[in-house]
Amino acid sequence: MQRKTVDRKSGSSRRNFLKSTGALAAGLSLAGTSTVKGATETLALNGGPKTITHPSAGTAAKWPLWGKDEEKAVLDIVRNPAGYGQIALLEKEWKAFINTPYAKAHCNGTGALTAMFFALDLPPGSEIMVPSYTFFATIVPMRLFGLVPVFVDINPRTLNFDLEDAKKRLTKNTKAVLPVHWIGLPCEMDHICDWAKEKGLIVLEDACHAHGAKLKGKAMGTWSRMGAFSFQCSKPLPGIEGGMGTYQDKADYERATTYGHYGLPSSFPKDSEYRKFQGTGLGVKLRMHPLAAALVRSQLRGLAERTRKGAAQVRRLNDRLVKLPGLYEQTYGRSDMERLHYAWNMLFIDEKETGMSRAQAVKALQAEGVRTSNTTYRLQHKCALYAEAKWWHHAPVIPELPGSEQANATAMGLPYFTSEVPELCDQYVKAFEKVWAHRKELGKA
Ligand SMILES: Cc1ncc(COP(=O)(O)O)c(C=O)c1O
Repeated sequence: MQRKTVDRKSGSSRRNFLKSTGALAAGLSLAGTSTVKGATETLALNGGPKTITHPSAGTAAKWPLWGKDEEKAVLDIVRNPAGYGQIALLEKEWKAFINTPYAKAHCNGTGALTAMFFALDLPPGSEIMVPSYTFFATIVPMRLFGLVPVFVDINPRTLNFDLEDAKKRLTKNTKAVLPVHWIGLPCEMDHICDWAKEKGLIVLEDACHAHGAKLKGKAMGTWSRMGAFSFQCSKPLPGIEGGMGTYQDKADYERATTYGHYGLPSSFPKDSEYRKFQGTGLGVKLRMHPLAAALVRSQLRGLAERTRKGAAQVRRLNDRLVKLPGLYEQTYGRSDMERLHYAWNMLFIDEKETGMSRAQAVKALQAEGVRTSNTTYRLQHKCALYAEAKWWHHAPVIPELPGSEQANATAMGLPYFTSEVPELCDQYVKAFEKVWAHRKELGKA
């Protein structure tokens, strides 16, 4: 499998010199007076002092960040239950925020994805290319409409849709691609859209982690014919529960809306073929709770600022961490991407380059007080549902997905610090430097 090399190592010439002469490995500086940072300190694993002592270590990743505005937004509704007006207001604001012609709020991201699959109106047996490294909701609702997932690998350093792998998995039944912008990092939608156009495929997006993330100035969820967002509590724009579909075409918007909103077809233009379904809709009820809409509207006002601060905080940490040998972050290294962060700050270890295993590194880091783990995500293609043909129009092919396996073998999730904690970041860097300074002995254990 061809994989892009994604490397943010800064590689200053002094550092390269040190590396190439072996001076760094020997613990010597150019002046010969100081040692590799942390080399003389005893690891906490071996009885030394813990590096992480900062009082905010347990609370710096607090989420959601709600305050007086959110309390007021909820109380206002409780005191004056004014129907469903908040939902329409949120849709209007969302359309302006990401610049999309049509948007429909749904009860959650799963609902937005389900309505999207319905709106596709594809014949049963149509296949959709989708990563296995995702939440069930990106895939399982396809089943309800006779659609079949074609599992595509991810790039293990970006955790995103691997276009080169997708090219190999195209079948005569493939009708659409559905990339997921994992934890706020945009997929390379420019390349994906070019290829999809060439092959006549529909492009969809799961933007449930990517509220306001952009590529080339264009928001995620607007690169495709239809996109889906989640406002579940852990997400970058939390409303406890909620979702949003984005649509470039009026017909998709009307179909998705009619599927889950029995009371809205009469709001469509007179010539709409879906107006007649007023009062019945076409399936289920996916209406968002107005309290959630009020929360999301309140959070939307501060989203850009939170995103900016969160990204700065991650840079404060990662710019130093990725200088350590064999330690990488989740990135394409593209300057035309504006990502956001959510839930984890994902790092990857190259065990060969580092000289110790992930498990050894994680154990030593945890002893220093670093909140990390051998991070694995449930791969959908390994779940029982996909192995039982009776649930699908035709059985999904269960492939080998080495990139997804590699991600699960090398990822080390750090918390995403949501408040400004420069001292804690310094301590995290110190802890990593200390463990890395002992990596040879750890690797031998
Ligand atoms: C990638 C992805 N897609 C879809 C969803 C579904 O969103 P919701 O929980 O709002 O239904 C989630 C939720 O975690 C998700 O992570």
